Amino acid sequence: MTRRKKKRWEDHQLGHIGRREARTAFYKDSANRISLNGEWKFLYMEAPELSPEGFMNKESGSQWDTIDVPSVWQLRGYDRMHYTDVLYLFPINPPFVPTENPTGIYKKIVSLNKEWMSHDTILKFHGVDSAFDVWVNGTHAGYSKVSRLPSEFDITDLLQEGENDITVRVYKWSDGTYLEDQDMWWLSGIYRDVELINEPKNSIIDCAVNGDLDSSYKNGILKADITTKEKSCEGTWKLERAGKEAASGVFRTEDGKVHLEEMIPEADLWTAETPNLYELTVSTNCHEIKVRVGFRKIEIIDHNFCVNKQVILLNGVNHHDYNPKEGRCVTYEQSKADVLLMKQYNINAVRCSHYPANEHFYDLCDEYGLYVIDEADLECHGFEWVERYDWITDDPSWEQAYVDRSVRMVKRNRNHPSIIMWSMGNESSFGCNFKSAAKAIKELDSTRLLHYEGDYEAEITDVYSTMYTRLKRLKEIAEYEIKGKKPHVMCEYGHAMGNGPGGLKAYQDMYRKYKRLQGGFIWEWYDHGIYTEEGGETYYRYGGNYGDFPTNGNFCIDGLLMPDRTPSPALLEYKQVIAPVEVTRIDGTQREFQLKNYHDFLTLEQFYIKWSVQGEKKFLQEGNIDHLTALPHETEKVIIPFTPFKPEANTDYYLNITVCRKEATQYAEAGHEISKVQFPLDIRYNILEERPQGNALKVWEAENILTIENDGVTVRFHKVFGHLLSVSVKDKEYLSEGPRMTVYRATIDNDMYKKEDWMEKYFIQKSSEQTEYFTYKEDQDKVTVSVGKYFGCYNQSWGFQCDYEYTVYSSGQVKVNLYGKAIQNGKLEPAFLPRIGIVMKGNKELQQAVWYGRGPGENYADSKEAGVMGIYSNSVDEMGTNYIFPQENGHREDVRWFGIGDGDKTLLCKAEMPLGLNLANYTDESLEEAKHPFQIERAEDVIIHLDYAQSGLGSNSCGEEQQEEFKVKLQDFTMAFELQVVSSGEEVKEAKRRYLD
Ligand code: GAL
Ligand code: MG
Repeated sequence: MTRRKKKRWEDHQLGHIGRREARTAFYKDSANRISLNGEWKFLYMEAPELSPEGFMNKESGSQWDTIDVPSVWQLRGYDRMHYTDVLYLFPINPPFVPTENPTGIYKKIVSLNKEWMSHDTILKFHGVDSAFDVWVNGTHAGYSKVSRLPSEFDITDLLQEGENDITVRVYKWSDGTYLEDQDMWWLSGIYRDVELINEPKNSIIDCAVNGDLDSSYKNGILKADITTKEKSCEGTWKLERAGKEAASGVFRTEDGKVHLEEMIPEADLWTAETPNLYELTVSTNCHEIKVRVGFRKIEIIDHNFCVNKQVILLNGVNHHDYNPKEGRCVTYEQSKADVLLMKQYNINAVRCSHYPANEHFYDLCDEYGLYVIDEADLECHGFEWVERYDWITDDPSWEQAYVDRSVRMVKRNRNHPSIIMWSMGNESSFGCNFKSAAKAIKELDSTRLLHYEGDYEAEITDVYSTMYTRLKRLKEIAEYEIKGKKPHVMCEYGHAMGNGPGGLKAYQDMYRKYKRLQGGFIWEWYDHGIYTEEGGETYYRYGGNYGDFPTNGNFCIDGLLMPDRTPSPALLEYKQVIAPVEVTRIDGTQREFQLKNYHDFLTLEQFYIKWSVQGEKKFLQEGNIDHLTALPHETEKVIIPFTPFKPEANTDYYLNITVCRKEATQYAEAGHEISKVQFPLDIRYNILEERPQGNALKVWEAENILTIENDGVTVRFHKVFGHLLSVSVKDKEYLSEGPRMTVYRATIDNDMYKKEDWMEKYFIQKSSEQTEYFTYKEDQDKVTVSVGKYFGCYNQSWGFQCDYEYTVYSSGQVKVNLYGKAIQNGKLEPAFLPRIGIVMKGNKELQQAVWYGRGPGENYADSKEAGVMGIYSNSVDEMGTNYIFPQENGHREDVRWFGIGDGDKTLLCKAEMPLGLNLANYTDESLEEAKHPFQIERAEDVIIHLDYAQSGLGSNSCGEEQQEEFKVKLQDFTMAFELQVVSSGEEVKEAKRRYLD
């Protein structure tokens, strides 16, 4: 007796029952269709064996629930939500799956008329997770699996005129699940469209095209393989470009097949920058289909991959199917919005991680121009956990299952010019089954490159692909022939989890410098948060929020786009980092600039420059330059014709250069900006003035409080604790707590591996300042308070000796000088600190922020390409970025002054040197504690951080740490700034004043 009999959904050697061969998704098809989307009857069970008797019959189902299709049942109240990155939710015992196997039976009645019955009927499922059986009118019609690929069944013989019952039983777990362990929510059901196709008897079943090029790279060669249902069938074909015929002809199939080949002279070629498409119409007497053709050639020349003989650079992003309310169900409109956004943000490539997308996604990539790595629905990451990573990957009994996933992907998607690489899957180790899949792909389609990161030795792939490779290693890959000479891509880098990634510029510089490196794909496009309304709060859930265990928590919140589609600061940064035109000032000049055209195909003729001279707030001169000519990869010099001007006193000047598109494109209006850079001008006219004088300051002490006051200002210090307590004007406190040193920031995801050290060994969040001395000195027009402090954290031998010097002027201004000297009396100290700075508190009524520094959005030391100097204003709340998982946010670099006001008065702070600024209505502690934005406790004051330096973001949640220059080490420092209360509206004027003392 066999101990355990495989159930149908545990038989990894059974690919399907009755499924049609995979084929092209036609762009258009004259065959009638009935969409089966919409309401279905639904019965949810804990195991398939619990199915009621006769469930496949028409009589059954009246008592069942209803469910909308497409959907995932976990988001319709069945089963439970669970997120894991790597782990399977059952014992690894392939091909067996749990007996408790959540199962959904779907049922729908479809009426078919006589006319319909005269043709054949194909039942098409675009995506069902994970395996399913189908019955038509009570008879078993087929079985299929592979969640992210379509399945078609010819059900003609099972149908009747009038009402027909279609019953689908979907299994959450199947042997296929072992191959579908991608990092995402576990979701099940009929989650893509379902339709009936009324296929004529003499129909075109498939049409595989390839828009090749001849050796001149100018003339197209149309290659088409047509399959008809009839063995011998006549028809016509026509190739059109924008409605104009480019070629046409007739054909006759033999044994149901014919190969066409036709030269298309002077074809308009397809590239991501020039997505020129042709339309091929193939007709028989009763059926007509259209597919789109792009003429382009992908090949490796001199160890680089090229499109149309041109080496290209991929500035890509990884894209999952995701919707905050619908899980993995994605509409055409949403995909289109994604593609448009990618194009608007200079992205030129997308990897379908880690499974084939909906059909329409590729149409959009063809149309708008994105290079695609199409990836097979295959990942068995959980096997790595048990240290038998290649368990099934290297087991020949699974060969068919591996090959099937690649072959069906290629057969469905091979007409899309946008696809330049086939990827055999993700994170599944390496073994014989990948070799077989590679062979099968190459036999079907040798016109594209083969990708699989798990082929670590680049043994069978065409490109050497790695993920999250650190810069040092990347340089080695570029400089030495690591793993041979194949071109390199980074299929994943720049982990966009929470605040970050930082440090992208260094990667881009590397890709641009080294020929072998052909770019990479940011991980990833979206935060996979699940929209939740609960107890009056709206927020996004991540792993663990459903009580799911084990889970990888907020590791699914790692996209450039927030779940509500708000572009994160990192997306703006990425746009600027990859901007295809680079502008640099020619050394030793003020007005001469070099433009480098990083497009692979477009000349700069289609672009113009918009320039302006900016004096902090005002724009003095501006103009356009629109006769640019640089060829792809070439440079040109431009002279920005700004004219001499008389500078205003104490004002910084900048030259802004923006590169814009001349004409409207499919994805943006005329004038769309692709790059914005700013250059400080070496022009400055300083005037120093006498500090104004106010009435004499009175100084008195009572109960350890030192008060310094005149009719314009009241400043209080605590003599014992050595703090500046407040700055008030006319009984209103503007500064409600003076500076205290800090080295801590609310942990960002990219510091997750440092958090333990920082917070449980070095206790950076547990600091205090001990008073060493407190003295003051009265002068004629000012009082100087000197305070010595020792700053340190619990049980630490490192710290800072701080000298604070406060000068209170009769004019109402309070100057703060802080000298910090790093101390180490022992041995241990953190490798680096999140920040060195001070924190102060402002009156909570001061909610209107204004600053002169980088902006408008948040920026950090290693993520400030998109932040340019200017005077910006915002509310304190809007200074922050509302990350799904709360963490440090809202920082601005290079701040020269800022104010917080109530509309009447503003607390103005002028820095003597560029400082980092955060303004928030919450403390770092409450930010650290909150798990969702609505849990962040509102503070009693406006929390003001001024940083001497704050460490960069890095990408260390998965990848490179902060680069050395963006790590704040234990070091001596100085800070100097001046506080005063001014009338709101006068901030700019007051900020420009410089005094002689
Ligand atoms: C990679 C993997 C992705 C994702 C990422 C971390 O290893 O390919 O699917 O898990 O790490 O977010
Ligand atoms: Mg994985």
